[in-house]
Parts: sequence; C-alpha cells; structure tokens
Amino acid sequence: MLEVRDLDAFYGDSHILHRVSFDIGAGEGVALLGRNGAGKSTLLKALMDAGPRATGRMRFDGHDLAGAPTHRRARLGMTLVPEDRRIFPHVSVAENLELARHACPSGLTPPTPAEIAAQFTLLQPILDRRADRLSGGQQQMVAVGRGLMARPKLLMLDEPAEGLAPVIVEDMAREIAVVRRREKLSLLVTEQNIDFARACTDRLLVIDSGAMVFSGDWAAFDAAPDLEARFLAV
Ligand SMILES: Nc1ncnc2c1ncn2[C@@H]1O[C@H](COP(=O)(O)OP(=O)(O)OP(=O)(O)O)[C@@H](O)[C@H]1O
Ligand SMILES: [Mg+2]
Repeated sequence: MLEVRDLDAFYGDSHILHRVSFDIGAGEGVALLGRNGAGKSTLLKALMDAGPRATGRMRFDGHDLAGAPTHRRARLGMTLVPEDRRIFPHVSVAENLELARHACPSGLTPPTPAEIAAQFTLLQPILDRRADRLSGGQQQMVAVGRGLMARPKLLMLDEPAEGLAPVIVEDMAREIAVVRRREKLSLLVTEQNIDFARACTDRLLVIDSGAMVFSGDWAAFDAAPDLEARFLAV
C-alpha cells in the first residue's frame, strides 16, 4: 500500500529526516514513536507534501507520489489529521464533519456525520454541540472523525492522544482499532503514549534524530527494553 524509500526531508537548510525507509501494508496499523523533535510530524507532513521539502521514493496504492501535490495524495486515499486540530470553533460537531465531505474522493459517497458517529461512538453524544464548547479531548475526537469523512485508505494521526485523560485515551484507542478493522484502513499513528499506540496498531517504527532506529512488532519491542530507555524515555 505505502512504500517509502530513502526519504530525506528538509526545512530550509535544516536536514531533518535521513534516508527513512518503511512499508505499510493494506489494513495494517503501524505506530511511529520517538521523542519530541525526533521527526515524527515531519515524516507525516512529508508523506502528504504538506510542509517540508522531501526527496526519495514514495509509492501509494500503486502510484508513484513523485511530484504529486497534497490534494492528489488526498484523492488517492491518504488523510492526515495534524497535531493542531484545526476544527471550526463556531459550528457544531456535525457541521464540522459535514464540512469535510469535500475531502471524499469523487466516485465515493461521503459518509454522513451520523454514520461517522455510529462508527466512532465517542462522537455520538456531542454531535450537536458547538465545537468551541468541547474539551481538548473531544476536539481531538472530532478531528479524527473528520479524517474518516474522506473514506481514507491510509489514515495518519499525529499524536491523537496528546493531552487526553487516561480513561479517554483507552476508549479512543479501542474505537480507532475497531474502525480500522471494520473499514480495513491502514493506520500510521505517531504517539508519545506507548499504551495508546500499542492498543491500535500491529507493529511500530521508532525514529530518533530523523533516522529510523527500530522496526518490528510489539513483541520484538518488548523483548528489547533498552529501546525505550534509549529512544523514548524523556
Ligand atoms: N516548520 C519548521 N521549520 C524548521 N524546523 C522545523 C519545523 N518544524 C519542525 N522543525 C524541526 O524539525 C525537527 C523535527 O520536528 P518534528 O515536529 O517533526 O518532531 P516530532 O517528532 O513531531 O516532535 P513532537 O513529539 O514534539 O511533536 C525538530 O528539530 C524541529 O525543530
Ligand atoms: Mg510532532
């Protein structure tokens, strides 16, 4: 589904990502872990051509992404829910979801807000609420729900659990895992919260100073406890 080879990314003269290579299969859930400043958001933005300048090879669903602008990548089925949630404050949750209908590729019928809320049940009780009256965690759920409006093949979430209360983190990870399986979505999720990442993915990548330092399943990660101390402990 997604193949990335020798990806380098730059902000101006700053060289941020160094020869990053990985694959994500159809329907597979992959976590991207790393410390603050490791390059997680830069990697997601590079995949969407949404910020950094990138070199290297990227293919998605059989298409070479070289030269493909953000909107074309979105049409191919790639959706990024960025760190800053960018929801519209003065309208309801349902309207926030409606406003994302246009993100759904032509030929596909966009879901309705009710359908999204049926999948992602944390949204159900707040559909009619104005977005600026939501907690940070609820706003984060709206952002994820809005990502689902595009009927993506690959959903990329940048730190969805950041700032959430532990009880909500668990609910959210569970719901994301359920939606992922039901919709046969591929998922790439960056996190600092290892429990959240584990609950909604099959395997993980660890990035440090812009370079990939581990790729494997969670059992392999658990078998190498030094990884957490070296690359993830703050
Ligand atoms: N717009 C930008 N211009 C210049 N440098 C940037 C820009 N955005 C990020 N950087 C730098 O790129 C490096 C990687 O940042 P990035 O945001 O990808 O890290 P991250 O792993 O997402 O961290 P966090 O966990 O804090 O979100 C950092 O050194 C950061 O200072
Ligand atoms: Mg980040």
